[in-house]
Amino acid sequence: MQSVKTQPQVVKESTDIIASISEALLPGETLLITSQSFTTSGITSQLVEELNGPVHVLDTVTSHPQLDFVEASYGQFRERGITNVVCLGGGSVIDVAKVIAGMLPGTTKTVTEVVKEKKALTAFSGRSIAIPTTSGTGAEVTAFATLWDKKSARKYSITCSKPDVVIFEPGLCLSLPRQTTLYAALDAISHAVESLWNVNRTPESEELAIKALQNLLSGLPEVLSDPNNRDARKQLQWGAWFAGSAINITKTAVAHAISYPLTLHYNIPHGLACSFTLRAILEDSGAAQLKIPEDIADNLINVLENLSLKDEMRRFVGWRNIVDDENFYLDPARSENFIFPVDTRWAKKIVLASP
Ligand SMILES: [Fe+2]
Repeated sequence: MQSVKTQPQVVKESTDIIASISEALLPGETLLITSQSFTTSGITSQLVEELNGPVHVLDTVTSHPQLDFVEASYGQFRERGITNVVCLGGGSVIDVAKVIAGMLPGTTKTVTEVVKEKKALTAFSGRSIAIPTTSGTGAEVTAFATLWDKKSARKYSITCSKPDVVIFEPGLCLSLPRQTTLYAALDAISHAVESLWNVNRTPESEELAIKALQNLLSGLPEVLSDPNNRDARKQLQWGAWFAGSAINITKTAVAHAISYPLTLHYNIPHGLACSFTLRAILEDSGAAQLKIPEDIADNLINVLENLSLKDEMRRFVGWRNIVDDENFYLDPARSENFIFPVDTRWAKKIVLASP
């Protein structure tokens, strides 16, 4: 059993989610934030019935959470005297929970004010508990959250606190569809790799990224061949957590910079868009130059090749479309974290070398 205690976050493994949440709750009212799928499967009502104290439910979180949705949800619960915020789900659910928990101290009145004035959210004085179920974004350990605004076609990154407690229950991930599992794990793999070839790399982020890759590269092939393998699912959960911890220090880099316009223009899922170039980037500069241990690099290339990402990508877009696209650009906020200076021309070369 892996375990870790960081300040101020406690991470624990569980086989009994009700008991594990109950142990972590403070006395008082709880807000449970989740998505419809957990309500449909009956887990939401089980939590409402079996957890101590009144439990309020927000179960309408969807992917790419919108600013106005979070604003309205916060308005619904701000006067309820919430002591615990429990979130159960993937990165979007956890991001919404981190923002609402950060709003509850009441120092800022609206979420819009927070994003427009780029304010950091206040630490929640109650208890925030995350039960991540997709093993990808690492939202359970990062101190930032992403919200979207369809009206202005913008995405906002909000500085907030990470949850106080993280609980891994691999049993909750067993029913995840193959593609959701794959794309989430690819996102986590990209986070680990991007934190290694990063100008902000530290000895701590390096150690976290290596642990992430050891878990992810071993767990992913096993989960894909046996989705009910709890131990391998647990490896993915830890892998995503270690990778999230690494990018919490370094932020992401050039593979993420390449991914954003692709997701925006061709709807390529994030985890796929930020991972299909990893092999070409690695081969272009070489593992040693990128300060990636040789054995990890070999294992990474082997796993990525076996996943046939070119076939996954071709479901969404043709390669020439990407490099001929006039709107293709590199987000400098991310590409400048890469350890070598790069430009759009270089990025197109990498995309062409990726199939
Ligand atoms: Fe990512």
